[in-house]
Amino acid sequence: MSVSYMTHPLIKHKITLLRKTITGTSEFRKLTEEIAMMMGYEALADLPTADVEIETPIEKTVQPVINGRKLAVVPILRAGLGMVNGVLALCPTAKIGHIGLYRDPETHLPHEYYCKLPEAIDERQIVVVDPMLATGGSAVAAVDSIKARGGKKIKFMSVIAAPEGVSKLMKAHPDIQLYVGCLDRCLNENAYICPGLGDAGDRIFGTI
Ligand code: PRP
Ligand code: URA
Repeated sequence: MSVSYMTHPLIKHKITLLRKTITGTSEFRKLTEEIAMMMGYEALADLPTADVEIETPIEKTVQPVINGRKLAVVPILRAGLGMVNGVLALCPTAKIGHIGLYRDPETHLPHEYYCKLPEAIDERQIVVVDPMLATGGSAVAAVDSIKARGGKKIKFMSVIAAPEGVSKLMKAHPDIQLYVGCLDRCLNENAYICPGLGDAGDRIFGTI
């Protein structure tokens, strides 16, 4: 598995704003979407192109367009929903799948409650989105589920990751490409990322 850590100063700046306790729900949503768009720009840098003939007002010319596999964006519910529009801003025709997972508060293990993916998932470039990669349990379960339904070419975008989550996902799924906005220090006793940003789902949806 390849892991890419974001280096763009705008992504770093926006993640810092996202972390702050005083960042309210509306700004948190806007930042999550903007970060997802910028990370998507990096993650989709290897999309294949093909040359086609077009006509400009001046002359005929052969120019590149996106070609090949169709895209599927798959948010892990709930918090991943906050990243979808950012990726759609880049690729408006992408299909959207959903995987519902929640972490048991005691065991921190993921429980799947929903999975619906676009048709012909085996032919698509899949981009799984979830702002937080903590223990890695949810990410591994999500990729397990996608592969069980035929998904093959998978990228995973996470805004903040703990080293534990990166290792776990790498070991379980060495064939996927992981994109991380920022690698944080560690997990605390409740399996929250430190320094992190708290509970991403609660901050996006204004729940407690
Ligand atoms: C959060 C987050 C990830 C998961 C990461 O979701 O959005 O899906 O935790 O933790 P892990 O790497 O230890 O599995 P949560 O389970 O809190 O559900 P929610 O988005 O519905 O709040
Ligand atoms: N889920 C979150 O939303 N935040 C964390 O720090 C860990 C898991």
